[in-house]
Amino acid sequence: MKPTKIDYLQCVTCKKQFAVNEIEYTCPNCGPVQGTLDVIYNWKQIRKMISREDLAKNNEPSHWRYLPLLPVNNERFIQPLRVGWSPLYRHPRVNKALQLPHLYLKDDSGNITASYKDRASSVAIVKALEKKYARIGAASSGNAGASIAAFAASAGLPCTIFVPESIPGPKLAQLKAYGAQIMLVKGSYDEAFDWCMQECEKNHWYNRNTAINPYLAEGKKTAALEICEQLKWDVPDLVFVSVGDGCIISGLWKGFKDLYTLGWIEKFPQLIGVQAEGSAPLVRAFREGLQEVREDEVQTIADSICVGFPRDQVKALRAVHESGGTLIAVSDQAIVEAIKFLAGSGGIFVEPAAAAAIAGVRCMQQLGKVVPESKIVAVLTGSGLKDIRPIL
Ligand SMILES: Cc1ncc(COP(=O)(O)O)c(C=O)c1O
Ligand SMILES: [Zn+2]
Repeated sequence: MKPTKIDYLQCVTCKKQFAVNEIEYTCPNCGPVQGTLDVIYNWKQIRKMISREDLAKNNEPSHWRYLPLLPVNNERFIQPLRVGWSPLYRHPRVNKALQLPHLYLKDDSGNITASYKDRASSVAIVKALEKKYARIGAASSGNAGASIAAFAASAGLPCTIFVPESIPGPKLAQLKAYGAQIMLVKGSYDEAFDWCMQECEKNHWYNRNTAINPYLAEGKKTAALEICEQLKWDVPDLVFVSVGDGCIISGLWKGFKDLYTLGWIEKFPQLIGVQAEGSAPLVRAFREGLQEVREDEVQTIADSICVGFPRDQVKALRAVHESGGTLIAVSDQAIVEAIKFLAGSGGIFVEPAAAAAIAGVRCMQQLGKVVPESKIVAVLTGSGLKDIRPIL
């Protein structure tokens, strides 16, 4: 096995540093919400392994083109499933309709299980196998569960997935097809999360729950690397992404920061996190300047971002603050309109949570904060076939 490229894991709140094998999930002093961990690399070693010039010659059509920047020790455990290096469309009709000539759509609906979550699961399965766990557990509104179930099936590792009963049919079908043990929760995603935490600890399963597993954000950072490379290292002004637990936006920010540390980019985009009006605890916390998010009763048609207590709240708020961005809320109606707009004028059919990013672009445009000169990326995080109810 090669030496690890990771220097240490660092608590986002107390900044304590931990050796990689000292700790699995979160800082014991700060707990599972405040004590999430950043993966900090040995940059001296990484600089010897990869450069922008190397990438220009690299034909790998997946996010594994950034392998030196990912927490993989044993490449043998990488599954041969399609993930990442997703298209960055500059779509003439969409851009004309929105009067935004410099809008780019980062379309992650073509990953193996049709959502952004495959970026994280592809890394999580490697860690589970490296650490010799016999089973993986995950709580999910649907996409993360379907995603890790596919990677677990591919690796021949059993998994147990905790999902709310209200999970959309196609996501449940994916779980069944991949042969996951399914725990249907009569309650919310937040309750599924807590139950999964207990079962993973009790049974010594590898925990793929978002935020508390430090390696997920590493997988999720790869879209930031791709966006910069696809734009020839010319960083966009604004990146829009929908936010539930806040792990995707945290991961994107980590990606931009890693590139900046490497000296491959010279500035940062502002990150704009988009929540649904009926599920916007992070928007409220951001507006009120809270350090800790209050748990909310939540409801939205965008099931993937229906999260009352965001688990990656510390990193998500940090990403928005450090980038000089903001968090905004959009209505369910605006989300459905965005689904129809993107499909009808662009041929790109996305699920509600993904469409929220486009609804967010429109919202900021109406506020005058997005102008025709703005160079914008909207991250489309999941396929429309994941939940067809909103458009039937
Ligand atoms: C399609 C889609 N978009 C956005 C999100 C939000 O990601 P996060 O919970 O990391 O904020 C999710 C999470 O489940 C998702 O599945
Ligand atoms: Zn700590």
